[in-house]
Amino acid sequence: MPNTIVVGLQWGDEGKAKILDELVQEAKQINNKRIWVVRFQGGPNAGHTMYIPMPDGKLIRFVAHAAPSGLTSNSEIGIGPNVAFDPERFIKEVEEARSVFGYSAGIHISERTGILFDYHRKLDAWQESLRTGDSKIGTTGSGIGPFYMDNANRATRITFAEYVSDNFHDILSKVLEQKSYELVAARISSLVTGKYIDELIAVHDPIRKELRKCACELEYRLREALEKGENIILEGAQGSMLDIDMGTNPDQTSSHLLATDPLGGLGLPRKAFRIYGVEKLYPTRVGEGVMPTLAEDDFGIETQRNAGEAGATTGRKRRVGYPDWVIVKYAAMINDIDGIYLTRADNVQDKNIKVCTAYDANGKRTEKVPSKLETVNPIYSNKIYRWHLWDGPSDLSKPEEVDKALHDKRAAYVKGGCESLPKDLKEYIVDHERYIKNPIIGMSIGPARGEIVKL
Ligand code: IMP
Repeated sequence: MPNTIVVGLQWGDEGKAKILDELVQEAKQINNKRIWVVRFQGGPNAGHTMYIPMPDGKLIRFVAHAAPSGLTSNSEIGIGPNVAFDPERFIKEVEEARSVFGYSAGIHISERTGILFDYHRKLDAWQESLRTGDSKIGTTGSGIGPFYMDNANRATRITFAEYVSDNFHDILSKVLEQKSYELVAARISSLVTGKYIDELIAVHDPIRKELRKCACELEYRLREALEKGENIILEGAQGSMLDIDMGTNPDQTSSHLLATDPLGGLGLPRKAFRIYGVEKLYPTRVGEGVMPTLAEDDFGIETQRNAGEAGATTGRKRRVGYPDWVIVKYAAMINDIDGIYLTRADNVQDKNIKVCTAYDANGKRTEKVPSKLETVNPIYSNKIYRWHLWDGPSDLSKPEEVDKALHDKRAAYVKGGCESLPKDLKEYIVDHERYIKNPIIGMSIGPARGEIVKL
Protein backbone atom coordinates (compact mmCIF):
# COMPACT_ATOMS: atom_id res chain seq x y z
CA MET A 1 0.00 0.00 0.00
CA PRO A 2 1.99 3.02 -1.17
CA ASN A 3 -0.32 5.68 0.31
CA THR A 4 1.63 7.27 3.10
CA ILE A 5 1.60 10.19 5.51
CA VAL A 6 5.01 11.43 6.62
CA VAL A 7 5.44 13.51 9.78
CA GLY A 8 8.34 14.70 11.92
CA LEU A 9 8.71 13.24 15.43
CA GLN A 10 10.77 16.04 17.01
CA TRP A 11 11.04 19.83 16.49
CA GLY A 12 11.28 19.72 12.70
CA ASP A 13 14.28 19.33 10.37
CA GLU A 14 14.28 15.54 10.84
CA GLY A 15 15.03 14.86 7.15
CA LYS A 16 11.43 14.32 6.03
CA ALA A 17 12.04 15.49 2.45
CA LYS A 18 14.62 12.81 1.83
CA ILE A 19 12.29 10.11 3.13
CA LEU A 20 9.40 11.50 1.07
CA ASP A 21 11.57 11.34 -2.02
CA GLU A 22 12.50 7.77 -1.14
CA LEU A 23 8.83 6.80 -0.82
CA VAL A 24 8.16 8.29 -4.24
CA GLN A 25 10.97 6.17 -5.70
CA GLU A 26 9.51 3.09 -3.96
CA ALA A 27 6.04 3.81 -5.32
CA LYS A 28 7.55 4.00 -8.81
CA GLN A 29 8.86 0.43 -8.35
CA ILE A 30 5.48 -0.85 -7.18
CA ASN A 31 3.33 0.40 -10.05
CA ASN A 32 3.42 2.90 -12.88
CA LYS A 33 0.40 4.87 -11.73
CA ARG A 34 0.48 8.56 -10.94
CA ILE A 35 2.17 9.68 -7.74
CA TRP A 36 0.81 12.59 -5.73
CA VAL A 37 2.82 14.51 -3.16
CA VAL A 38 0.52 16.79 -1.17
CA ARG A 39 1.40 19.39 1.49
CA PHE A 40 -1.27 19.54 4.19
CA GLN A 41 -0.19 22.22 6.69
CA GLY A 42 2.35 24.93 7.46
CA GLY A 43 3.79 27.22 4.87
CA PRO A 44 7.14 28.62 3.76
CA ASN A 45 8.45 28.28 7.31
CA ALA A 46 9.41 24.78 6.13
CA GLY A 47 12.67 24.18 4.31
CA HIS A 48 12.56 20.73 2.76
CA THR A 49 16.09 20.06 1.56
CA MET A 50 16.92 17.36 -0.96
CA TYR A 51 20.12 16.26 -2.69
CA ILE A 52 19.18 14.94 -6.10
CA PRO A 53 21.66 13.10 -8.34
CA MET A 54 21.96 14.55 -11.84
CA PRO A 55 22.88 12.53 -14.95
CA ASP A 56 26.55 13.65 -14.60
CA GLY A 57 26.67 12.13 -11.09
CA LYS A 58 26.72 15.47 -9.28
CA LEU A 59 24.30 16.14 -6.43
CA ILE A 60 22.05 19.17 -6.72
CA ARG A 61 20.71 20.76 -3.52
CA PHE A 62 17.06 21.77 -3.85
CA VAL A 63 15.06 23.39 -1.06
CA ALA A 64 11.25 23.45 -1.18
CA HIS A 65 9.65 25.95 1.19
CA ALA A 66 6.21 26.58 -0.26
CA ALA A 67 5.88 23.70 -2.74
CA PRO A 68 5.77 19.96 -2.00
CA SER A 69 9.03 18.08 -2.37
CA GLY A 70 7.49 16.08 -5.24
CA LEU A 71 8.83 18.79 -7.56
CA THR A 72 12.11 16.92 -7.74
CA SER A 73 10.52 13.61 -8.78
CA ASN A 74 8.07 14.93 -11.36
CA SER A 75 5.13 13.93 -9.15
CA GLU A 76 1.69 15.50 -9.22
CA ILE A 77 1.81 18.10 -6.47
CA GLY A 78 -1.06 19.25 -4.27
CA ILE A 79 -1.70 22.00 -1.74
CA GLY A 80 -4.30 21.24 0.94
CA PRO A 81 -6.72 23.64 2.64
CA ASN A 82 -4.75 23.98 5.89
CA VAL A 83 -1.60 25.21 4.15
CA ALA A 84 -0.40 28.81 4.48
CA PHE A 85 0.05 29.15 0.73
CA ASP A 86 2.68 31.64 -0.40
CA PRO A 87 2.14 32.05 -4.16
CA GLU A 88 5.24 34.20 -4.67
CA ARG A 89 7.56 31.60 -3.24
CA PHE A 90 5.62 28.70 -4.77
CA ILE A 91 5.90 29.99 -8.31
CA LYS A 92 9.65 30.58 -7.94
CA GLU A 93 10.18 27.02 -6.73
CA VAL A 94 8.11 25.57 -9.56
CA GLU A 95 10.07 27.61 -12.11
CA GLU A 96 13.36 26.45 -10.62
CA ALA A 97 12.22 22.81 -10.74
CA ARG A 98 11.14 23.26 -14.35
CA SER A 99 14.55 24.54 -15.35
CA VAL A 100 16.69 22.18 -13.22
CA PHE A 101 14.70 18.92 -13.35
CA GLY A 102 12.36 19.54 -16.29
CA TYR A 103 9.35 19.42 -13.95
CA SER A 104 6.17 18.97 -16.01
CA ALA A 105 3.55 17.15 -13.87
CA GLY A 106 0.23 18.56 -12.65
CA ILE A 107 -0.26 21.20 -9.95
CA HIS A 108 -3.45 20.95 -7.87
CA ILE A 109 -4.32 23.66 -5.35
CA SER A 110 -7.42 23.40 -3.18
CA GLU A 111 -9.86 26.24 -3.75
CA ARG A 112 -10.22 26.32 0.03
CA THR A 113 -6.56 27.07 0.75
CA GLY A 114 -5.77 30.48 2.31
CA ILE A 115 -3.21 32.86 0.81
CA LEU A 116 -0.22 34.21 2.69
CA PHE A 117 0.65 37.78 1.71
CA ASP A 118 3.51 40.19 2.29
CA TYR A 119 1.60 41.85 5.15
CA HIS A 120 1.60 38.56 7.06
CA ARG A 121 5.39 38.54 6.96
CA LYS A 122 5.52 42.18 8.08
CA LEU A 123 3.04 41.56 10.88
CA ASP A 124 5.05 38.51 11.97
CA ALA A 125 8.19 40.67 12.33
CA TRP A 126 6.21 43.35 14.17
CA GLN A 127 4.54 40.91 16.60
CA GLU A 128 7.87 39.27 17.33
CA SER A 129 9.42 42.69 18.03
CA LEU A 130 6.74 43.30 20.69
CA ARG A 131 7.50 40.04 22.50
CA THR A 132 10.02 40.09 25.32
CA GLY A 133 11.66 37.51 27.57
CA ASP A 134 9.86 34.17 27.76
CA SER A 135 7.16 35.21 25.34
CA LYS A 136 9.62 35.49 22.42
CA ILE A 137 9.02 32.66 19.93
CA GLY A 138 11.87 33.12 17.46
CA THR A 139 9.59 32.59 14.46
CA THR A 140 10.97 32.04 10.97
CA GLY A 141 9.51 35.42 9.97
CA SER A 142 7.47 33.79 7.19
CA GLY A 143 4.14 35.26 8.33
CA ILE A 144 2.76 32.02 9.76
CA GLY A 145 1.18 33.30 13.01
CA PRO A 146 -0.60 36.29 11.40
CA PHE A 147 -1.74 34.07 8.50
CA TYR A 148 -3.41 31.52 10.80
CA MET A 149 -4.94 34.36 12.85
CA ASP A 150 -6.59 35.61 9.66
CA ASN A 151 -7.66 32.08 8.81
CA ALA A 152 -9.34 31.60 12.17
CA ASN A 153 -10.87 35.05 11.90
CA ARG A 154 -12.64 33.84 8.71
CA ALA A 155 -13.54 37.19 7.15
CA THR A 156 -9.86 38.16 6.76
CA ARG A 157 -8.97 34.90 5.04
CA ILE A 158 -8.57 35.07 1.27
CA THR A 159 -9.03 31.64 -0.25
CA PHE A 160 -7.32 30.39 -3.39
CA ALA A 161 -10.69 30.42 -5.20
CA GLU A 162 -11.02 34.13 -4.36
CA TYR A 163 -7.38 34.79 -5.20
CA VAL A 164 -7.73 33.56 -8.77
CA SER A 165 -11.21 35.07 -9.26
CA ASP A 166 -12.01 38.32 -11.08
CA ASN A 167 -13.10 39.86 -7.75
CA PHE A 168 -9.70 39.57 -6.16
CA HIS A 169 -8.91 43.32 -6.11
CA ASP A 170 -12.17 44.11 -4.29
CA ILE A 171 -11.76 41.25 -1.85
CA LEU A 172 -8.20 42.28 -1.03
CA SER A 173 -9.19 45.87 -0.43
CA LYS A 174 -12.05 44.83 1.90
CA VAL A 175 -9.74 42.57 3.88
CA LEU A 176 -7.11 45.29 4.20
CA GLU A 177 -9.78 47.68 5.38
CA GLN A 178 -10.68 45.27 8.18
CA LYS A 179 -7.03 44.95 9.06
CA SER A 180 -6.21 48.63 8.78
CA TYR A 181 -5.80 49.31 12.52
CA GLU A 182 -3.35 46.48 12.81
CA LEU A 183 -1.46 47.43 9.66
CA VAL A 184 -1.16 51.06 10.67
CA ALA A 185 -0.02 50.05 14.17
CA ALA A 186 2.61 47.85 12.58
CA ARG A 187 3.68 50.85 10.48
CA ILE A 188 3.00 49.30 7.12
CA SER A 189 2.47 52.95 6.51
CA SER A 190 2.20 53.01 2.74
CA LEU A 191 -1.15 51.31 3.26
CA VAL A 192 -2.59 54.60 4.37
CA THR A 193 -1.90 56.04 0.94
CA GLY A 194 -3.39 53.02 -0.83
CA LYS A 195 -0.04 52.47 -2.53
CA TYR A 196 0.48 49.25 -0.63
CA ILE A 197 -2.60 47.63 -2.20
CA ASP A 198 -1.36 48.62 -5.65
CA GLU A 199 2.02 47.05 -4.87
CA LEU A 200 0.38 43.80 -3.79
CA ILE A 201 -1.79 43.70 -6.89
CA ALA A 202 1.20 44.35 -9.15
CA VAL A 203 3.05 41.40 -7.61
CA HIS A 204 0.10 39.01 -7.58
CA ASP A 205 -1.75 39.65 -10.83
CA PRO A 206 0.77 37.80 -13.05
CA ILE A 207 0.98 34.93 -10.51
CA ARG A 208 -2.81 34.64 -10.30
CA LYS A 209 -3.00 34.38 -14.05
CA GLU A 210 -0.43 31.61 -14.11
CA LEU A 211 -1.95 29.61 -11.22
CA ARG A 212 -5.64 29.99 -12.13
CA LYS A 213 -5.72 26.63 -13.93
CA CYS A 214 -4.45 24.85 -10.78
CA ALA A 215 -7.54 25.60 -8.66
CA CYS A 216 -9.52 22.46 -7.86
CA GLU A 217 -11.72 20.62 -5.39
CA LEU A 218 -8.73 18.73 -4.08
CA GLU A 219 -10.71 16.43 -1.79
CA TYR A 220 -12.62 15.02 -4.79
CA ARG A 221 -9.53 14.81 -6.96
CA LEU A 222 -7.63 12.86 -4.29
CA ARG A 223 -10.57 10.58 -3.62
CA GLU A 224 -10.72 9.75 -7.34
CA ALA A 225 -6.96 9.14 -7.35
CA LEU A 226 -7.38 6.79 -4.38
CA GLU A 227 -10.15 4.90 -6.14
CA LYS A 228 -7.99 4.52 -9.25
CA GLY A 229 -5.20 3.03 -7.15
CA GLU A 230 -2.84 5.96 -7.66
CA ASN A 231 -0.18 6.65 -5.04
CA ILE A 232 -0.76 9.44 -2.55
CA ILE A 233 1.94 10.73 -0.25
CA LEU A 234 0.98 13.40 2.27
CA GLU A 235 3.90 15.59 3.23
CA GLY A 236 4.05 16.92 6.77
CA ALA A 237 6.17 19.92 7.65
CA GLN A 238 7.81 20.97 10.95
CA GLY A 239 7.73 18.40 13.77
CA SER A 240 5.12 17.15 16.23
CA MET A 241 6.62 19.07 19.15
CA LEU A 242 5.79 22.31 17.28
CA ASP A 243 2.09 21.41 16.87
CA ILE A 244 -0.23 24.25 17.90
CA ASP A 245 -2.03 22.05 20.45
CA MET A 246 0.30 19.18 21.26
CA GLY A 247 3.60 21.13 21.30
CA THR A 248 4.63 23.37 24.17
CA ASN A 249 3.04 26.80 24.36
CA PRO A 250 4.13 29.38 23.21
CA ASP A 251 7.17 27.92 21.45
CA GLN A 252 5.31 26.20 18.65
CA THR A 253 4.11 26.97 15.16
CA SER A 254 0.52 27.93 14.36
CA SER A 255 -0.74 24.91 12.43
CA HIS A 256 -2.05 21.45 13.23
CA LEU A 257 0.62 19.17 11.95
CA LEU A 258 -0.14 15.69 13.21
CA ALA A 259 -0.75 12.80 10.83
CA THR A 260 -4.42 12.66 11.69
CA ASP A 261 -5.02 16.23 10.48
CA PRO A 262 -4.77 15.76 6.69
CA LEU A 263 -7.35 12.99 6.89
CA GLY A 264 -9.89 15.54 8.08
CA GLY A 265 -8.54 18.41 6.00
CA LEU A 266 -8.50 16.41 2.79
CA GLY A 267 -11.37 14.06 3.53
CA LEU A 268 -9.22 10.95 3.23
CA PRO A 269 -9.70 7.66 5.11
CA ARG A 270 -7.09 6.59 7.72
CA LYS A 271 -7.37 2.96 6.65
CA ALA A 272 -5.93 3.77 3.21
CA PHE A 273 -2.69 5.16 4.66
CA ARG A 274 0.45 4.08 6.44
CA ILE A 275 1.79 6.73 8.77
CA TYR A 276 5.56 7.06 9.03
CA GLY A 277 7.36 9.23 11.54
CA VAL A 278 10.79 10.61 10.74
CA GLU A 279 13.26 10.92 13.59
CA LYS A 280 16.72 12.46 13.42
CA LEU A 281 19.13 10.49 15.57
CA TYR A 282 19.78 13.61 17.62
CA PRO A 283 17.04 16.24 18.01
CA THR A 284 17.60 19.83 16.96
CA ARG A 285 15.69 22.97 17.70
CA VAL A 286 15.75 26.37 16.02
CA GLY A 287 14.08 29.42 17.53
CA GLU A 288 13.12 29.73 21.20
CA GLY A 289 11.92 26.97 23.52
CA VAL A 290 13.34 24.31 25.80
CA MET A 291 14.98 21.15 24.51
CA PRO A 292 15.49 18.95 27.60
CA THR A 293 18.55 17.09 26.26
CA LEU A 294 20.36 20.17 24.91
CA ALA A 295 24.02 19.25 24.41
CA GLU A 296 26.28 22.19 25.18
CA ASP A 297 29.35 19.94 25.17
CA ASP A 298 31.58 18.73 22.29
CA PHE A 299 28.84 16.38 21.08
CA GLY A 300 26.48 19.31 20.47
CA ILE A 301 29.08 21.73 19.13
CA GLU A 302 30.74 19.26 16.75
CA THR A 303 27.48 17.77 15.51
CA GLN A 304 26.07 21.22 14.82
CA ARG A 305 29.17 22.08 12.80
CA ASN A 306 29.87 18.79 11.02
CA ALA A 307 26.27 18.11 10.12
CA GLY A 308 25.70 21.69 8.95
CA GLU A 309 22.79 22.12 11.35
CA ALA A 310 21.47 25.51 10.29
CA GLY A 311 17.92 26.43 9.30
CA ALA A 312 17.16 26.05 5.57
CA THR A 313 14.68 28.93 5.86
CA THR A 314 16.49 31.39 8.13
CA GLY A 315 20.11 30.18 8.24
CA ARG A 316 19.99 30.27 12.08
CA LYS A 317 22.13 27.66 13.86
CA ARG A 318 20.09 24.76 15.19
CA ARG A 319 20.68 23.70 18.79
CA VAL A 320 21.62 20.01 19.03
CA GLY A 321 20.57 17.59 21.76
CA TYR A 322 21.22 14.01 22.82
CA PRO A 323 18.59 11.47 21.66
CA ASP A 324 15.37 12.01 23.60
CA TRP A 325 13.23 8.88 23.34
CA VAL A 326 10.58 10.30 25.70
CA ILE A 327 9.71 12.91 23.08
CA VAL A 328 9.78 10.37 20.26
CA LYS A 329 7.51 7.96 22.12
CA TYR A 330 5.01 10.77 22.74
CA ALA A 331 5.12 11.87 19.09
CA ALA A 332 4.73 8.26 17.93
CA MET A 333 1.62 7.95 20.10
CA ILE A 334 -0.12 11.18 19.13
CA ASN A 335 0.50 10.54 15.42
CA ASP A 336 -0.60 6.88 15.58
CA ILE A 337 2.44 5.94 13.51
CA ASP A 338 3.09 2.59 11.83
CA GLY A 339 6.86 2.88 11.65
CA ILE A 340 9.89 5.14 11.94
CA TYR A 341 12.59 6.27 9.55
CA LEU A 342 15.76 7.20 11.41
CA THR A 343 18.07 9.78 9.83
CA ARG A 344 21.61 11.10 10.34
CA ALA A 345 23.16 8.14 12.19
CA ASP A 346 26.22 8.74 10.01
CA ASN A 347 26.69 12.27 11.35
CA VAL A 348 27.39 11.05 14.87
CA GLN A 349 29.74 8.16 14.20
CA ASP A 350 32.71 7.89 16.62
CA LYS A 351 30.85 9.82 19.31
CA ASN A 352 29.69 8.69 22.74
CA ILE A 353 25.92 8.79 22.62
CA LYS A 354 23.70 8.73 25.68
CA VAL A 355 19.94 8.41 25.50
CA CYS A 356 17.22 10.09 27.56
CA THR A 357 14.62 7.52 28.58
CA ALA A 358 12.76 9.43 31.32
CA TYR A 359 12.41 12.87 32.89
CA ASP A 360 12.80 14.08 36.39
CA ALA A 361 9.79 16.36 36.83
CA ASN A 362 9.88 18.14 40.19
CA GLY A 363 11.64 15.18 41.78
CA LYS A 364 9.38 12.53 40.23
CA ARG A 365 10.47 10.15 37.47
CA THR A 366 8.16 10.13 34.46
CA GLU A 367 8.18 8.83 30.89
CA LYS A 368 5.46 11.27 29.87
CA VAL A 369 5.82 14.65 28.15
CA PRO A 370 4.25 17.44 30.21
CA SER A 371 2.68 20.52 28.59
CA LYS A 372 5.66 22.59 29.76
CA LEU A 373 9.23 21.37 29.45
CA GLU A 374 10.85 24.08 31.60
CA THR A 375 10.55 22.01 34.75
CA VAL A 376 11.96 18.68 33.52
CA ASN A 377 15.50 17.33 33.61
CA PRO A 378 16.58 14.42 31.44
CA ILE A 379 17.35 11.03 32.98
CA TYR A 380 19.76 9.10 30.77
CA SER A 381 19.97 5.30 30.56
CA ASN A 382 23.26 3.76 31.77
CA LYS A 383 24.26 2.62 28.31
CA ILE A 384 26.62 4.57 26.03
CA TYR A 385 26.49 3.79 22.31
CA ARG A 386 29.35 4.43 19.90
CA TRP A 387 29.68 3.26 16.31
CA HIS A 388 32.13 3.58 13.47
CA LEU A 389 30.81 3.41 9.91
CA TRP A 390 33.79 4.46 7.78
CA ASP A 391 37.15 6.20 7.86
CA GLY A 392 36.66 9.47 6.15
CA PRO A 393 35.76 13.10 6.55
CA SER A 394 33.96 14.07 9.73
CA ASP A 395 32.73 17.29 8.13
CA LEU A 396 29.61 16.27 6.22
CA SER A 397 28.09 19.74 6.24
CA LYS A 398 28.19 20.14 2.44
CA PRO A 399 26.79 16.89 1.04
CA GLU A 400 27.02 18.03 -2.59
CA GLU A 401 30.82 18.13 -2.21
CA VAL A 402 31.22 14.68 -0.70
CA ASP A 403 33.29 12.37 -2.91
CA LYS A 404 32.47 9.15 -4.71
CA ALA A 405 34.55 6.96 -2.35
CA LEU A 406 32.25 7.88 0.53
CA HIS A 407 29.17 7.35 -1.60
CA ASP A 408 30.45 3.81 -2.32
CA LYS A 409 30.89 3.11 1.40
CA ARG A 410 27.34 4.20 2.01
CA ALA A 411 26.12 2.08 -0.90
CA ALA A 412 27.83 -0.97 0.69
CA TYR A 413 25.67 -0.57 3.83
CA VAL A 414 22.54 -0.12 1.72
CA LYS A 415 23.38 -3.39 -0.06
CA GLY A 416 24.47 -5.21 3.11
CA GLY A 417 21.34 -4.20 5.02
CA CYS A 418 20.87 -4.41 8.76
CA GLU A 419 23.40 -7.21 9.20
CA SER A 420 26.22 -5.08 7.85
CA LEU A 421 25.75 -2.29 10.41
CA PRO A 422 28.17 -1.88 13.34
CA LYS A 423 27.19 -3.79 16.50
CA ASP A 424 26.41 -0.72 18.63
CA LEU A 425 24.20 0.80 15.96
CA LYS A 426 22.23 -2.46 15.71
CA GLU A 427 21.87 -2.46 19.48
CA TYR A 428 20.71 1.13 19.39
CA ILE A 429 18.01 0.16 16.89
CA VAL A 430 16.83 -2.81 18.96
CA ASP A 431 16.75 -0.83 22.23
CA HIS A 432 14.93 2.01 20.48
CA GLU A 433 12.27 -0.35 19.12
CA ARG A 434 11.78 -1.91 22.55
CA TYR A 435 11.34 1.49 24.17
CA ILE A 436 9.17 3.21 21.56
CA LYS A 437 7.25 0.01 20.69
CA ASN A 438 7.34 0.85 17.03
CA PRO A 439 9.63 -0.54 14.34
CA ILE A 440 12.42 1.41 12.67
CA ILE A 441 11.80 0.45 9.07
CA GLY A 442 14.56 2.37 7.40
CA MET A 443 17.69 4.25 8.32
CA SER A 444 19.13 6.99 6.20
CA ILE A 445 22.90 6.59 5.89
CA GLY A 446 23.62 9.60 3.68
CA PRO A 447 21.96 12.61 2.12
CA ALA A 448 21.49 11.42 -1.45
CA ARG A 449 18.59 9.55 -3.03
CA GLY A 450 18.86 5.79 -2.35
CA GLU A 451 21.17 6.10 0.66
CA ILE A 452 18.76 4.28 3.01
CA VAL A 453 19.27 0.94 4.75
CA LYS A 454 16.03 -1.04 4.91
CA LEU A 455 15.65 -2.71 8.27
P1 IMP B 1 6.82 30.03 12.78
O1 IMP B 1 6.25 28.73 12.33
O2 IMP B 1 7.65 30.72 11.72
O3 IMP B 1 5.80 30.92 13.38
O4 IMP B 1 7.86 29.71 13.98
C1 IMP B 1 7.45 29.19 15.23
C2 IMP B 1 8.50 28.26 15.82
O5 IMP B 1 8.57 27.07 15.01
C3 IMP B 1 9.91 28.83 15.81
O6 IMP B 1 10.60 28.33 16.94
C4 IMP B 1 10.54 28.27 14.54
O7 IMP B 1 11.93 28.22 14.60
C5 IMP B 1 9.90 26.90 14.51
N1 IMP B 1 9.77 26.35 13.14
C6 IMP B 1 8.84 26.70 12.23
N2 IMP B 1 9.02 25.98 11.09
C7 IMP B 1 10.04 25.17 11.33
C8 IMP B 1 10.67 24.14 10.53
O8 IMP B 1 10.29 23.85 9.39
N3 IMP B 1 11.71 23.50 11.12
C9 IMP B 1 12.12 23.77 12.39
N4 IMP B 1 11.57 24.69 13.16
C10 IMP B 1 10.53 25.39 12.63
